[in-house]
Amino acid sequence: MSTLQITLIVCMFATAKSVNAMTVYTCGPNNTCVCTYDKQERITMDCEGRGNLKLSEICVFIGNVTSLKAGRNNFGNLTASDLKGCENLTEISFNFNQIAHIERETFQDFRHLHLLDLSRNLLQVYSKGWDASCLPKNLQTLKINGNPIPYNVNFPNLDSHDNLNKLTSDGFSNTAFNVSKIASLSLSGLNLETQCNLTQINNNTFSLSDSLKVLNISACGVISITAGAFEHLHSLEVLDLSYNRQLELWSLANVTYGLQFTRIRFLNISNLFSRFGGGVQLTMPNFCFLWNITVEDLDISGNKIDSIETNALILTPPSLKIIRVNHNKFWFGPYVLQLGCLGNVSTIFSSRLNYIPNPFIYTLENSKRYSAPKVELYQMTCPFCNVDFLKEYAMRTKECSYIENGVIDLLNPKIPVKLERLIANDCDYRHDLSSNYSYNPENISIRYIDISGNTFVSVTGYVGDIPMLETLNMSRCYISTIGLTSLNYRSLKTLRLADNDLGAQLADSKRSNIFDMLQSLQDLDLSSNGITVLFTSTFTELVNLERLDLSNNDIEHFDVNINTLPHLLQINLEINSIHTLNIGVRRKLEANENDRSKFSINLQNNSLAYECNNQEFLHWLIQHKANMVGFSIYRFVTSDDVTITFDKMMTDLDHLASRCRSYVAVIIIGLLALATFLSVIIGGVIYKYRWRIRYLMYMSKKRFFGYHMLPDYTAIQNYKYDAFISYAEDNIRFILDDVIPRLETDIISLCIHQRDFIPGNAVSDNIIHAIQSSRKTVVILSNAFLKSKWCMYEFNMARMESIYSRGEDISLVIVMLETVPNSAMPLEMLRWIQDNNYIEYTTDHEGNALFWDKLRRVITS
Ligand SMILES: *[C@@H]1O[C@H](CO)[C@@H](O)[C@H](O)[C@H]1NC(C)=O
Ligand SMILES: *[C@@H]1O[C@H](CO)[C@@H](O)[C@H](O)[C@H]1NC(C)=O
Ligand SMILES: *[C@@H]1O[C@H](CO)[C@@H](O)[C@H](O)[C@H]1NC(C)=O
Ligand SMILES: *[C@@H]1O[C@H](CO)[C@@H](O)[C@H](O)[C@H]1NC(C)=O
Ligand SMILES: *[C@@H]1O[C@H](CO)[C@@H](O)[C@H](O)[C@H]1NC(C)=O
Ligand SMILES: *[C@@H]1O[C@H](CO)[C@@H](O)[C@H](O)[C@H]1NC(C)=O
Ligand SMILES: *[C@@H]1O[C@H](CO)[C@@H](O)[C@H](O)[C@H]1NC(C)=O
Ligand SMILES: *[C@@H]1O[C@H](CO)[C@@H](O)[C@H](O)[C@H]1NC(C)=O
Ligand SMILES: *[C@@H]1O[C@H](CO)[C@@H](O)[C@H](O)[C@H]1NC(C)=O
Ligand SMILES: *[C@@H]1O[C@H](CO)[C@@H](O)[C@H](O)[C@H]1NC(C)=O
Ligand SMILES: *[C@@H]1O[C@H](CO)[C@@H](O)[C@H](O)[C@H]1NC(C)=O
Repeated sequence: MSTLQITLIVCMFATAKSVNAMTVYTCGPNNTCVCTYDKQERITMDCEGRGNLKLSEICVFIGNVTSLKAGRNNFGNLTASDLKGCENLTEISFNFNQIAHIERETFQDFRHLHLLDLSRNLLQVYSKGWDASCLPKNLQTLKINGNPIPYNVNFPNLDSHDNLNKLTSDGFSNTAFNVSKIASLSLSGLNLETQCNLTQINNNTFSLSDSLKVLNISACGVISITAGAFEHLHSLEVLDLSYNRQLELWSLANVTYGLQFTRIRFLNISNLFSRFGGGVQLTMPNFCFLWNITVEDLDISGNKIDSIETNALILTPPSLKIIRVNHNKFWFGPYVLQLGCLGNVSTIFSSRLNYIPNPFIYTLENSKRYSAPKVELYQMTCPFCNVDFLKEYAMRTKECSYIENGVIDLLNPKIPVKLERLIANDCDYRHDLSSNYSYNPENISIRYIDISGNTFVSVTGYVGDIPMLETLNMSRCYISTIGLTSLNYRSLKTLRLADNDLGAQLADSKRSNIFDMLQSLQDLDLSSNGITVLFTSTFTELVNLERLDLSNNDIEHFDVNINTLPHLLQINLEINSIHTLNIGVRRKLEANENDRSKFSINLQNNSLAYECNNQEFLHWLIQHKANMVGFSIYRFVTSDDVTITFDKMMTDLDHLASRCRSYVAVIIIGLLALATFLSVIIGGVIYKYRWRIRYLMYMSKKRFFGYHMLPDYTAIQNYKYDAFISYAEDNIRFILDDVIPRLETDIISLCIHQRDFIPGNAVSDNIIHAIQSSRKTVVILSNAFLKSKWCMYEFNMARMESIYSRGEDISLVIVMLETVPNSAMPLEMLRWIQDNNYIEYTTDHEGNALFWDKLRRVITS
């Protein structure tokens, strides 16, 4: 015997991601099949649709495989030799093959086989004389649907298979399903492999099926059901009649009549109408026998029901716990005030009311119509539809009352006493919840409300009191406003407000504290609300909060105060604009961790800053990467707007640190350089304008300290002196011997500092004063002058005076006493001389006379 060569390839994608981790590997001939090893230790070999595979080849490779899927392989008639090696299998699917015959001995050695799928083959199972003994003995589940249906149908006799309890077959009228030992029979046409054409169901159809617990005759084209049809099915617990679109609701009386004698728990009578056409009223006769059946779960969805006859709800069976009325189109009517009659109902599913079906299925559905509804069917009478019975029956149920003469109490709506779950999502309801509503009974049991996908623009009122409410889902409701006291549900644990429009309200500090009354809340979903700003105090009262979903918003700063939230462990901030998380949030999350649960944050699709000043956070992230949901796809944005992946970030982070250190150096050096540069510039400017600045400072000082500007400099009498003589100490002899004697006459008075300066005053003040009180300042320029600090001061101040205070007049006169080389002169002096010229002193006799004459004229001009 050849050794089994099954290569084990643990699939990469099946890693510990999901809880039901399965091992997947290739197996079978040439490894063309796929094996999965699941939690229940079953090994399934999938060889479906492998083209040229032969059954015998597959069976060689079975090994420890427990189930084989071998559909769609063009297998022909089955023989024992084909299946050699497959004997220990527990499940085999041979659907969609060409099997017309099964040799008698084929399954002889199959002791463990409990499921055999022979659907969609060519077996003559419905012909007289077909011998079921070729099937394995211990079979529990058999599928023979989709095999040829002969003209004269003869349902196979499977009585010899004692363990067989589940059968899927085709369905046909005028045949008794002789399946006395089978518990579950499915003829459902919803399974596309099945041909179910069960036009008429009468008391004969299931008369030989008395052990049935589950009967699935959905989509079987049923048109009529007689009253006794299900009468014999004393064990029946589940009946699926859905998608028999020609059955319509008036058949309910016959259906429920028979069901009185069963143990029915679940009845699916959804989609008994074409989806198109006008609405339907559920009438009293429809309910007639309903009250006497034991149904717990009733699905009456998709029946275009728009109203219920007044008082009909009284006939709701006390056993009913779950009612499903999705896909109808209820209008208001008095029946709404009788919802209290659903006495023991704990769950109502009423989703997608007002839903408009896809028009493309119109022709499809309506071409199937068998005949127009028969008028006489409406006239069925119900023995229990009399006032006395209804009144008496109503009294048995708390909050249920009989409505007499149409007298209704609109102000006192009642809801079922035991109602715990109300699911009414996507109903296209549009309501303004801005007033307060309350219901009877006061102590209602509602724990779960899902009204997502409706329209409640303004939720400023209060709907209550609902003391036990634990879950409220108002996602996708276009809510933009919630009142500060509207969410007043003490025991609320889960609040879903995803896909609303609360961003603006939450950004308004006066209106943002809408959650303050939800002390029990554990789960808050505010995803997709256009939130940009959150106030620190918005969540502070949610002392039991564990999970906070703020994904799909536009939050840049998550600066929420979570210090009062000791249980908060999960924050979802996926798809926002977060750059960093502040240290307060981080520390608190770490502190909230306990042995059982770690904190977790989702920061996918944010713009986490990869920058010097965010290094601490980045290190924290890496340190806590096990707490980050989807950390491997985090993206980071550098200061130059480049996006980098998490592994780039991890490897580069140390470099960032060193870059940041050098940045610091660069910044310091840069600052120093800038300071130097500025001081050079400023120094240069100051230097360049030092005289002007000194002059102006002096002028302003003078103004501040009460000196008065001379009103008019041009008027001669306003100057105390005609000329202030500025000279170097070395040239004193020239002043005393020549200047004073030759210039100081009756008409010219000179200011000579040794003689005229006021003792006790600062030299600089004296100089300025002298310059300003003289019409001219005469600089006696010599080499010594240039070397004297005070002389240069006098020159410059005089120059400034001339430039800034004397208008057109040039008050500075330069007398070149000796030859002074240009290179020795400062720039401003050279410039002055260039612009204004000078008078050259000469000892030459004629020139000398000319000089004094010229100087006198200049001083007096
Ligand atoms: C496996 O494939 C090879 C070549 O493709 C073929 O010759 C061989 O018969 C195959 N073996 C089986 C068991 O199908
Ligand atoms: C099934 O058999 C294959 C090959 O013999 C072996 O590798 C695998 O571990 C077995 N699986 C189990 C669950 O025993
Ligand atoms: C079926 O299982 C039995 C015992 O578990 C073993 O002895 C036998 O060889 C198996 N048969 C095949 C065809 O693997
Ligand atoms: C399969 O069985 C049917 C019915 O017994 C028979 O007519 C047909 O010839 C068989 N086909 C093959 C390929 O043996
Ligand atoms: C139903 O099957 C039994 C054998 O299990 C048989 O005796 C009986 O005649 C069958 N009834 C019908 C109506 O075919
Ligand atoms: C009836 O059969 C259909 C098709 O297989 C299935 O979808 C449906 O769930 C079944 N109904 C019940 C109540 O099991
Ligand atoms: C369904 O069965 C009825 C008779 O019971 C027959 O008239 C009708 O043609 C059948 N419909 C299909 C689609 O087979
Ligand atoms: C079916 O009902 C008819 C009358 O409607 C009755 O004659 C017949 O005996 C009933 N058959 C069974 C099996 O109850
Ligand atoms: C209800 O059953 C009676 C007889 O059992 C039958 O005459 C009537 O047509 C049935 N009604 C419907 C709507 O099938
Ligand atoms: C209610 O159903 C039972 C069978 O479960 C039946 O015996 C009884 O007659 C029915 N009650 C009425 C009032 O029809
Ligand atoms: C009832 O039947 C419909 C149509 O087959 C199906 O969609 C629905 O899920 C069923 N209801 C339940 C509760 O299974």
